[in-house]
Amino acid sequence: MVSSQSSNITLDGEPVSFSAGETLYEIAKRQETIIPTLCYDPRLEAFGSCRLCMVEVDGIRNPVASCTTKASDGMVVRTTSPAIEKHRKVLLEMVASENPDIAVDPLRGYASQELGTLVDDYRADTGRFKGRQSGQSFQDDDNPFILRDYDRCISCYRCVRVCAEQEGDYAINIRNRGFNTQITTEFSGTLKDSSCTFCGQCVQTCPTGALADKKAMRAENDPGEIKKTRSVCPYCGVGCSVDLLSKDDRLVGVQPAMDGPANQGALCIKGQFAFDFVQHNDRLGSPLIRNEAGELEKTSWEIALDRAADGFREAMKTHGRQSIYGVASGRTPSEADYMMQKFIRAGFGTNQIDNCSRA
Ligand code: SF4
Ligand code: SF4
Ligand code: FES
Repeated sequence: MVSSQSSNITLDGEPVSFSAGETLYEIAKRQETIIPTLCYDPRLEAFGSCRLCMVEVDGIRNPVASCTTKASDGMVVRTTSPAIEKHRKVLLEMVASENPDIAVDPLRGYASQELGTLVDDYRADTGRFKGRQSGQSFQDDDNPFILRDYDRCISCYRCVRVCAEQEGDYAINIRNRGFNTQITTEFSGTLKDSSCTFCGQCVQTCPTGALADKKAMRAENDPGEIKKTRSVCPYCGVGCSVDLLSKDDRLVGVQPAMDGPANQGALCIKGQFAFDFVQHNDRLGSPLIRNEAGELEKTSWEIALDRAADGFREAMKTHGRQSIYGVASGRTPSEADYMMQKFIRAGFGTNQIDNCSRA
């Protein structure tokens, strides 16, 4: 028989109801109670490795990881106490002491500021445990997209898990243990020689900037503040939400929108890295028409559109309406697609229309 009684815990002195299966961290987040995390990404299976999210539970001698502990009725939970805060600060000092420096440019990736922000919040001493370091940077990986700066790696395994759980690619994994821990590919080769699809999800979930967006980093020293503008990827019909990164009105990078309804933080290689065309010198800045010698030359929109209209009229007259065929680009918005089909159907009396974004 199912009990009609609702289940409750006491969270920092307040009664809170919960659903079966919810973790203490999820309940706290719902209540807008901040618990620090490093190995947590809401899209991934909770892993419980960084131990930063520890909370105290009455009746349990040692603190428990809130990201992996499911709530049970009657639990009394404290998310903060002098002992817990001291524990978190020491943990941060241990991971921070392993890294060459904590401050990294936000252009490295979406989550790249997480460790630095926590170190600042806790005023953690980044040199307290200086000594052996884990993770060797892979300088020889000459792929054009992803910097593998593993000197900054804290072994949270978010990259490995997002690659497996979200991308389904299993391109990277963990070699060795302890100070010898290393994120690596099969046979320790380059990403280009692995099954990596360069989706960039490992870059965007990395909380230290150890994995970084090489293309966005080209603008690290450019003047201006980083501005984020929400948009939709123009490449195909899925409609992934993106945040366009700009400096002084120049597009410098792309980050996936973690709350994008179609993609929830995922992108493919094109949406993530193929944005150079936007400001490319070869991009057409004005219409071109062929002159009498057959060479392309710049002209005005009025002249170019008149020339196109003449071409349509000539095709209709010579070959009939079935000679007219309209194809919309995958980069056009729905409104432009609608106009194209209306133009072909109403203007020429044919249903010969198509669109390349049928993904
Ligand atoms: S590279 Fe980044 S995401 Fe991967 S384990 Fe290291 S710190 Fe975590
Ligand atoms: S870019 Fe994508 S496929 Fe390649 S290692 Fe990172 S998560 Fe895996
Ligand atoms: S966030 Fe819970 S153990 Fe890392």
